[in-house]
Amino acid sequence: MRLAAPEHGGVRASEAASVRKRRLSDVLGVALDGVDLARPLSEADFREIEQAFFEGQVLAIKGQDLTPEQFLAFARRFGPPEPHVIDTFHHPDAADILILSNRRKPDGSPAGLADGGTYFHTDYSYLQVPARVTMLYSVEVPSKGGDTLFADMYAAYDDLSAAMKQRIDGLVVRHHYGNRDDLDEQSRTAASRLSDKQKDKVTWVRHKLVRTHYGTGRKALYGVSGSSFDIDGMARREGAALLDELKRHALRDKYVYSYPYEVGDVVLWDDLATLHSATLTEPDDPRTLWRITVKEPCFETALRASSA
Ligand SMILES: [Fe+2]
Repeated sequence: MRLAAPEHGGVRASEAASVRKRRLSDVLGVALDGVDLARPLSEADFREIEQAFFEGQVLAIKGQDLTPEQFLAFARRFGPPEPHVIDTFHHPDAADILILSNRRKPDGSPAGLADGGTYFHTDYSYLQVPARVTMLYSVEVPSKGGDTLFADMYAAYDDLSAAMKQRIDGLVVRHHYGNRDDLDEQSRTAASRLSDKQKDKVTWVRHKLVRTHYGTGRKALYGVSGSSFDIDGMARREGAALLDELKRHALRDKYVYSYPYEVGDVVLWDDLATLHSATLTEPDDPRTLWRITVKEPCFETALRASSA
């Protein structure tokens, strides 16, 4: 496949193939044109895609036309898919695919999960082994809006003062399913509501506040918004205040990129190196995506679960 080096603001075709790679913004994001994920990928081709994923932190593979099985086959190259705790909206032909949609079935019941993740967070940070990659296949886009916002947690960490880095480098954060800034289950910007049975499956876990990426070796601020509630060894209010301070820093405009979907996009993001937020759309403006999530490949940074 041999991808050309990314070139901001333009497209440079590889001489070896029709695959083109381009940067999506000055912040983060790489797009690939000319890849067909419906066909089996050689190991070398997959490694190039993985490299573009590490490099871009958000990777958009444009112009796909996939069956659930083809989408799953691609996802499995990154590792075994991990179904979401919300097990209500599986694709009927593939339980590892979560349907995100505001459409309704003929009987009026929801056809998918709507308004999921409309606050900055990173996926599965409430699990002991969090997500490595989340990928969405864009089936239908709304007429207005529907972007996903992504924030660069490498840059946010790199730009901290030496004193702040020293202060936070060894800290451990307690996470739980939820959005610490909005715990009202009726709110559209709270974490998606769980049934009592689903709530029984989630518990408190701990993650380092600064994590080293298994693939790139770079340090990133981890999960400073979303499921992080307090910090080991600090009073609850003090820990939350530090998380809030880091969140305000990490979500400044200069670290954030807004991705506008087109039908046929497969968009992957690196959950260790980014935060992301969905944006609310009009409930009657149809939108559907298929989602697959793969957990991290190793346990070395996962800390022991703790009780509440
Ligand atoms: Fe998410």
